[in-house]
Amino acid sequence: MIYPNNYHLGMEIRIMRENDAQGAYSLMVSSLDEYYAPEVVQYFLMQWPAGQIVACDFSGRIIGYLAGARLGPGRASVSLFCVDPAYRSRGIGSMMLARFRQSAMMEGIGHIQLEVKENNTSAIRFYTRNGFTVFERLEHFYNDGSAGVRMVSSGSSVRSN
Ligand SMILES: CC(C)(COP(=O)(O)OP(=O)(O)OC[C@H]1O[C@@H](n2cnc3c(N)ncnc32)[C@H](O)[C@@H]1OP(=O)(O)O)[C@@H](O)C(=O)NCCC(=O)NCCS
Repeated sequence: MIYPNNYHLGMEIRIMRENDAQGAYSLMVSSLDEYYAPEVVQYFLMQWPAGQIVACDFSGRIIGYLAGARLGPGRASVSLFCVDPAYRSRGIGSMMLARFRQSAMMEGIGHIQLEVKENNTSAIRFYTRNGFTVFERLEHFYNDGSAGVRMVSSGSSVRSN
């Protein structure tokens, strides 16, 4: 889906480059409530370069970061995903997800899954609108003991809102 309103931002959505790693990590630390070591960004980048998507503002600053992982034949996961709070609800996350799906499809990957905290209702709503459905509940899935849900998508990326 195209969001014409975003073109005035001079924003770009593209596959991540080596020198985006620091910016992606900084965004991740400020946006996600689980701790991740800095090496995690390099790890994802090395294992699947085309599955790492960033959004940049007009100055090149990283304002969105999606880390994908290949799970096996035809399957991948969205392992990390965040958009800078100042840029949320403008369609950037949906466009990043669409770019990620494109990378996945080019490698014959049609099944995408992810885990999200059960109480992260806005993220669950976001994924539902982007074609994911809840597959199972994951008791004590996170470091703080909270539950998660696994969501899956194996079809089109049509939004339903
Ligand atoms: C989940 C997340 C990545 C979504 O990114 P985003 O850029 O806000 O996503 P979108 O803008 O595409 O869609 C989100 C909302 O904006 C709305 N929206 C989409 N396009 C829009 C547009 N052009 N104009 C106005 N609103 C729009 C959607 O309806 C949705 O509304 P909701 O608040 O009812 O859910 C972001 O909220 C985030 O970083 N959250 C914190 C980290 C997190 O929870 N990550 C996921 C855990 S795995």
